[in-house]
Amino acid sequence: MTLIAHNQIPIPSFMYGTAWKKDDTARLVQLAVESGFKAIDTANQLIHYQESLVGDALLELKKKGVLRDALFLQTKFTSVDGQGKQTPYDATADLTTQVRQSIDSSLKHLHTDYVDSYVLHGPYSRYELKSADWEVWSAIEELYNTGKARMIGISNVSADQLTQLCAKATTKPMVVQNRCYAVMGWDQEVREICRAQAIIYQGFSLLTANAAVTADPAVRAIAKRLGTGAAQVIFRFAMQIGMLPLTGTTNAQHMKEDLQSDQFDLTAEDLHQIEAIGISAHR
Ligand SMILES: NC(=O)c1ccc[n+]([C@@H]2O[C@H](COP(=O)([O-])OP(=O)(O)OC[C@H]3O[C@@H](n4cnc5c(N)ncnc54)[C@H](OP(=O)(O)O)[C@@H]3O)[C@@H](O)[C@H]2O)c1
Repeated sequence: MTLIAHNQIPIPSFMYGTAWKKDDTARLVQLAVESGFKAIDTANQLIHYQESLVGDALLELKKKGVLRDALFLQTKFTSVDGQGKQTPYDATADLTTQVRQSIDSSLKHLHTDYVDSYVLHGPYSRYELKSADWEVWSAIEELYNTGKARMIGISNVSADQLTQLCAKATTKPMVVQNRCYAVMGWDQEVREICRAQAIIYQGFSLLTANAAVTADPAVRAIAKRLGTGAAQVIFRFAMQIGMLPLTGTTNAQHMKEDLQSDQFDLTAEDLHQIEAIGISAHR
């Protein structure tokens, strides 16, 4: 299944995330693609991601006939604050130069001349957009205009920040990528802005941030009724309420299971019940 961004570019409806895979990144990316994932998420941020090992996997996949155009590659610009000791750009350069150097390094790592999606890993502050964010966003817009990025987006963004960005950006984001807590109505405020602005909402930590929901007897009962697992119920729930989910599974069987999450439908009552568990966990 694919979704269509507001600039008419298609994006696969489930994404494989490569954070925290360390030296196993290349093997797991190959396994994920061979299992059926078409979209890969990474970042040029050495403390959490091995982008160059994603690139190694792409070279191996190419040898097996999986061409660049068959895959959707998403990577991110991470500011100096989010980097460790090693930055993939000159940390003393101005922000526009940092973004240009970061994407050029990403393109080299990934052996390509464009990425399907380029995401600002997070604004410089939690509640507002500062001048630094606007400078970085302009540099990201430039990548979109020159074709190095086919769509652009922002991650770890609050509702206020997203509202500001949509109001003032020359090019508004096509994607948002946020951690999704059931106790926050599954990031309801941000998702509503995305819906209104035709932005694709990518949700991460759907399982890890919501272990109590996944383990809830009601979710288990829905899974049993449908002959599936609790993880798939959560991923299907995410899709049916309008999200594009990410999974970072390291397990071949789980990769297959996660991809089968679109093979069944939850009822309106199931959706309501799962939403209610999140809200009650908040009380
Ligand atoms: N923008 C950001 O700041 C940011 C931050 C964090 C993450 N991300 C992105 O989002 C991706 C996913 O991160 P995440 O936090 O959602 O996932 P994650 O931390 O990689 O964890 C997924 C967890 O779910 C389990 N799991 C997956 N499928 C399962 C199944 N069918 N049955 C049972 N357990 C299952 C996995 O266990 P097994 O390994 O045993 O399957 C793992 O413990 C990352 O790799 C990264 O690309 C972005």
